[in-house]
Order: sequence, then C-alpha cells, then structure tokens
Amino acid sequence: MRFFIDTGSVAEVEEIAAWGILSGATTNPTLLAKEDGDPGEIVRRICDIVGGPVSAEVVSDDAAGMVEEGRALAALHEHVVVKVPFSSEGLAATRALSAEEIRVNMTLVFSANQALLSAQAGATFASCFMGRLDDISVDSTAVVEEIVASLRPGGTTTEVLAASIRHPEHVVTAARLGCEVATVPVKVFRQMLNHPLTEKGRELFKSDWESRPEFVEWLRELVSKQPTSA
Ligand code: G3P
Repeated sequence: MRFFIDTGSVAEVEEIAAWGILSGATTNPTLLAKEDGDPGEIVRRICDIVGGPVSAEVVSDDAAGMVEEGRALAALHEHVVVKVPFSSEGLAATRALSAEEIRVNMTLVFSANQALLSAQAGATFASCFMGRLDDISVDSTAVVEEIVASLRPGGTTTEVLAASIRHPEHVVTAARLGCEVATVPVKVFRQMLNHPLTEKGRELFKSDWESRPEFVEWLRELVSKQPTSA
C-alpha cells in the first residue's frame, strides 16, 4: 500500500517527505482553507516535493462547472489529480475529464455502489472516508472491505484510496483489506512511528555500545577513513 499525505500544509509535506515514504498527497477545500498564501502555489509546491499524484478539489455542483475547474486545476502541474465529490454530476464530470486524460480522485465515497459507479465513470482513485463512517457508527472496516471486494472482480484500474484516517489502526486495516493507497494526516504518521520496545531497544544498544569507549573510538575512526561523499 502506498502512502499519500493528507494536508494543505507545505511544511507538513516537507516533514514527512524527508522520511522517504511518500508517493503523493491529497488536499481538499477544508485543508487548503487553513493555509495562508495562494492555493495554486501551495498545490504546485506540494507537487514538486512529493513528485507524485496530488489531489486538488473542484467546488462547483454542476458537471460543466466541475469540468472547467478540473481543467484549470490539472493545468497547475503535471502531478495534479482532480478531486471530484461523488454525485451524478460528479460522475458526468469524471467521464468528461478522464476522456481528456485528466486523472480524477472521486471523493466522499461511502459505499460499494458509489465506488462501482466511480470506477465505471473512469475515476483513477475512489476515496473512502473511514473516520467519517466511524463518526456515525457505521463500521468503516466493513465498508472498505466491501468496496475492495466489489471492485476487484471487475478488473477495474480504479484504486481504492483510504481517507479520513484518524488513527494508526485505520492504516493497518486499509492495508490488510487491500487498499492501494492510504492518505494519512501528519499526526497519524507521527503516531505510526511509535513503539515502546523500539525506543527501549535503541537506548539499550546505545548505552551498551558506549559502555565500551574503545568501540566508540573504533567506529569513529572507521567512519573517518571512508572517502567523503561529494
Ligand atoms: O481527505 C479527506 C480527509 O481530509 C477528511 O478527513 O478527518 O476531516 O474526516 P476528516
């Protein structure tokens, strides 16, 4: 499963991109509205940092308006994927944009039926919001499982993108169920790092090594003998 970062913050993208694990990013009007500066410049900057698909969302309600906005957003950068909220107008806009080879991320998908329709309209990604399902006591695991199980047999190329990720367990569930992508907020990425035994183990290795100063010296010398990388 590939990782996208779910944010409108360039600083957060830079932080997680430095880990070497990012394949893309997702923005939405709520996330971008939290940021200062030109939204177009922010999206372009995020595209340059991640070097992969970056979703930017249309806000019109009618297909014609969505297509116009989609073309304009796609023209911002080669990595832009147009995010379209699910609706009948959204399906029509997705068909039109994908016919122009503009990639679409169908968002606000909450059921297998919506995902199946999105795939038929030519969507590259179908974004299922796990956290928002859990918010209304609908079991997001069951919904994601049904979405993946429904799309697979049809041989569709539409990838399942797990979104509205609220905690590390959502990430594991998405991977276990076969989602191709999870878009993760920075807070959850930081939580995914943590395990008490990892921390404890690192400290023990360090203190055991430092208990032998001659070994510390040996490694320092070994490093100093290496040719300096340009
Ligand atoms: O990508 C969608 C995501 O940003 C929504 O997350 O936490 O507002 O449900 P949340």
